[in-house]
Amino acid sequence: MAILFKSTPASIRRWRPFLTQAWPERDLRFWPEIGDRAEVRHALVWHPEPGLLASFPNLKLIVSLGAGVDHILRDPELPAGVPIVRLVDPYMTRAMSEYVVLQVLRLHRQDFVYRIQQAAAEWREHDQKNAAERTVGLLGFGQLGQDAAAKLKALGFDVAGWSRSGRAVPGFTTYGGAPGLNALLRRSEILVSLLPMTPETENILDAGLFARLPHGAGLVNAGRGRQLVEADLLAALDSGQVSAAVLDVFREEPLPPTHPFWRHPRIIVTPHVAAETHPPTATAIIATAIEDFEAGRPVANAIDRDKGY
Ligand code: NAP
Ligand code: GLV
Repeated sequence: MAILFKSTPASIRRWRPFLTQAWPERDLRFWPEIGDRAEVRHALVWHPEPGLLASFPNLKLIVSLGAGVDHILRDPELPAGVPIVRLVDPYMTRAMSEYVVLQVLRLHRQDFVYRIQQAAAEWREHDQKNAAERTVGLLGFGQLGQDAAAKLKALGFDVAGWSRSGRAVPGFTTYGGAPGLNALLRRSEILVSLLPMTPETENILDAGLFARLPHGAGLVNAGRGRQLVEADLLAALDSGQVSAAVLDVFREEPLPPTHPFWRHPRIIVTPHVAAETHPPTATAIIATAIEDFEAGRPVANAIDRDKGY
């Protein structure tokens, strides 16, 4: 009963020592040394090529090496009925919250304006609100959104969250569905997106959404690049409807060197690093998922294929 690990060569080098140490007795197959495909029961994957998972006839469980599962669900030949588990690791959650707090503070404290002024050696003060006077809206109020919200709240920000269900989260105002989105956007001077990539969230960050934000709102996108309509963001920055944006994820990754985002004075680009998978902590979480699955126990963080996350 073999376990396949399929990711980039660099990722295999990072993970291999932790997986082999945690599971010395297991038959681990690191891509591309996969041996007999019929022996593979579980697959730990990041961006598997379409059709790859279907080539293992006895596959029982698919584990995403990240929080998102869009890289698996995009496969038109994905074997039906095989459960998919995503990675939920408190280490990654804390990393994402650090990123969100950093970028929200950057937008809140008008750091873009002062960087532009510094480049021109311009000494000019601007009125500054306190965090308690600043509203932050989170699109996606799940594992990552709620932790970031708690940390922003601890800094004094007025935080609200939007989710599919709109389910109540103690301590926060929450909104759900299309009517809820209007209400959240109206109040969000800083908008942070931590949405999973699904057919419903594709292109959600578009001109229509930007128009419903308060004029001059700031944007952080650490969900997925295909959620952002890039031309609409550039137009919203030109008009001042959006004052600045911090982007961690892109339609094309790596972001091509000629892309206008790289040199835009009101855009910060980070290379999909907001919350990276951390093999030392993730290994134990994945081991537990596989052990629970094999023992017939409920497996935490199994995704709902119909919802797409
Ligand atoms: P999660 O716990 O599943 O939370 C997802 C949230 O999004 C939930 O609140 C869900 O609503 C909401 N949602 C989903 N579809 C929606 C829709 N159509 N309309 C409104 N709300 C919707 O996921 P997570 O662990 O927080 O991760 C979120 C995403 O972050 C991942 O899928 C991945 O794309 C991204 N991510 C990025 C990085 C990075 O480094 N940039 C790292 C990790 C993850 P319900 O609560 O009603 O279900
Ligand atoms: C990273 O983007 C992840 O989904 O974990």
